[in-house]
Amino acid sequence: MLPLDIAGLPPVAAFDVGGEIYVTSNVCTHNVALLSDGFFEGDTIECPLHGGCFNVRTGEATQFPCEVPLQTYPVIVEGGDLYTEIKDH
Ligand code: FES
Repeated sequence: MLPLDIAGLPPVAAFDVGGEIYVTSNVCTHNVALLSDGFFEGDTIECPLHGGCFNVRTGEATQFPCEVPLQTYPVIVEGGDLYTEIKDH
């Protein structure tokens, strides 16, 4: 996994799941914690603060205390470069 800090945009992270790249918010929906400080295995990111989990493919919250889904973003890989569309709310 790779945290992506882009000035002026919310923090996001990119995850490599078997060669497929997924981009999600990097902030846990349960409280304020950076998911990229947690443990990533398969398609699951575990939050470092209380151990809640999300599926990075879908954003689904898969383990309590996380209940609100994680924001996901579209990803396009072109010529080795990764593009995503993040709207500033
Ligand atoms: S802040 Fe992530 S599980 Fe609580």
